[in-house]
Amino acid sequence: MCGIVGYVGSRDATPLLVGGLRRLEYRGYDSAGVAVQQNGKLEIRRAEGKLDNLVTAVAQHPLSGSVGIGHTRWATHGRPTEQNAHPHVDCGAVTAVIHNGIIENFADLKAPLVAAGHRFTSETDTEVVVHLLEDELAKGALLEDAALAVLPRLEGAAALGLISAKDPGKIVAARISNAGGVIVGYGQGENFIASDMPALLEHTRSVSFLGAGELAIVTATAVSFRTLDGKPLTKERTTVTWDPVAAAKSGYRHFMLKEIHEQPRAISDTLLGRVERTTGRVVFDENVRMTDDQVRALPRITLVGCGTAGHAALVGKYLIERLAGIPCDVEIPSEYRYREPVVTNGQLIVAITQSGETVDTLAAMHEAKARGARVLALVNVVGSEATRAADDVIYLHTGPEIAVASSKAYTAMLVDLYLFAIYLGQRRGTVDPERSRQLLAEAFHLPTLIDAVLGQEPKLKALAYRYHGARDFLFLGRGIQYPTALEGALKLKELSYIHAEGTAGGEMKHGINALIDEHMPVVAIALRDPVYRKIVSNIAEVRARAGVVIALAHDDDEEIAGHADEVVRIPRTNELISPALAVVPLQLFAYHVADRRGNDVDQPRNLAKAVTVE
Ligand code: AGP
Repeated sequence: MCGIVGYVGSRDATPLLVGGLRRLEYRGYDSAGVAVQQNGKLEIRRAEGKLDNLVTAVAQHPLSGSVGIGHTRWATHGRPTEQNAHPHVDCGAVTAVIHNGIIENFADLKAPLVAAGHRFTSETDTEVVVHLLEDELAKGALLEDAALAVLPRLEGAAALGLISAKDPGKIVAARISNAGGVIVGYGQGENFIASDMPALLEHTRSVSFLGAGELAIVTATAVSFRTLDGKPLTKERTTVTWDPVAAAKSGYRHFMLKEIHEQPRAISDTLLGRVERTTGRVVFDENVRMTDDQVRALPRITLVGCGTAGHAALVGKYLIERLAGIPCDVEIPSEYRYREPVVTNGQLIVAITQSGETVDTLAAMHEAKARGARVLALVNVVGSEATRAADDVIYLHTGPEIAVASSKAYTAMLVDLYLFAIYLGQRRGTVDPERSRQLLAEAFHLPTLIDAVLGQEPKLKALAYRYHGARDFLFLGRGIQYPTALEGALKLKELSYIHAEGTAGGEMKHGINALIDEHMPVVAIALRDPVYRKIVSNIAEVRARAGVVIALAHDDDEEIAGHADEVVRIPRTNELISPALAVVPLQLFAYHVADRRGNDVDQPRNLAKAVTVE
């Protein structure tokens, strides 16, 4: 969850660290801090609250030095105060640590340190690391050797950055498990570390990704790697293709708004190169290694994903069952990992994750693999842990998603799942060439249709302003639009803090009808699909109980106006690709409700972008 950055070179480290943290603020934003090596000692600045408070603290008490680390925090252990902000230092303030993750055995490690006279100044789990390092450094160890002595004693999840005035001119970075990424970025006479690419893109695109159980020793002119049992390690350098502009707001008020508007372009990128011209077959790149025989033999598919990615999984089930006839189920990763799931011979697990670092999704992947499943990851972030844990990888190719609330990654997930279902159907003989041609033509037309929906933003903004004061919302969907209802509700609650529920229309009578009154607007997704009449009946039930209905309907549906108080319209497209279109007005609605309420849209309270703790 937390963001970590580090710089070692000849430039002034502080502005580079703060700039990097600015790019990573979406990972955590309840406090921030930097530590810089200066004349044989460390200087620390930390501040509670948003990064701007740290900027003020640094402006009031400037730092200088060309080696440093920085951190933006999402609190787990200890309140979000300045005292608990990272970096944490040892008793002599000569060594500093930044940490993402949770050290589960910190209490056991802390007790003997306190008994031996170490002075702790925070309530965090992290601080034990720096006091343990202090003891090792006191024996004359180099920073990396001290780290190799200490890190194997930590249980839980940790991605760490360390500096010490006792062993100046270097950063040691390490990852003891799946606690979010550590990326080493290579510059000219300078090097960087960061938990995520956006912090590096301005400086370099040449990077190495640390895996679990790996450590990097980073100086201005050299980078070397070791495993946590001390063995030297050679790591590949990768050049990432994301460009720095993609990680900037480019004139939009918020990243979220920019990312909503990027969807036509992002979907074109997702589709690019995925259809073989001569055969019309869907193809993925070399990262999908499943053979056609293995596809034909698939007995069952389980899809897993958290939050928005879980909603994509629900759409994926619908698509795969319809187009490829393979029985599918959808699981919540945090439940799947602990419930001793049954994996049948040859079963495929599809793990869906934008960040590729969501700890529960990774754990579900490992659990499934240990039980003999093949694991395919649908992932956006290149080099993320999910790409290493999977047998096959399908990338979203949607560019960096910075806003905490997912928008363009969701539609890219839906498009990738649509392609994947066609890919399976083509190989299993359930989708013939003519049907493939029609389905793919609809996918290639989707960016134009999304553009048309984006053109309705002023109307959606006006609608949001009319309803921004509601205390509760209900979202109704059926069939393939049931996950759209869940996603519409999630977007609204995470951005606006309004209570919202998404439900399948058929469930209304089983309890939810009791909530209906004139104070709770009901958003009904009422597209002309096979369950149109059913959702219209649900709308009638709501109105019979004085409920206010906002219907999401097709452009040419003249009947719907007679059933609803408000109508939002979208163009017609085929039912199977329509969830990627229907969600767009709901994203814009949630965005404008939240903005009207004065909320911080890009950084909603209590949330973080990559959920790297349980
Ligand atoms: C979406 O708006 C949320 N911020 C959240 O539900 C997110 O989709 C979830 O945490 C999964 O993240 P991932 O795709 O990076 O695994």
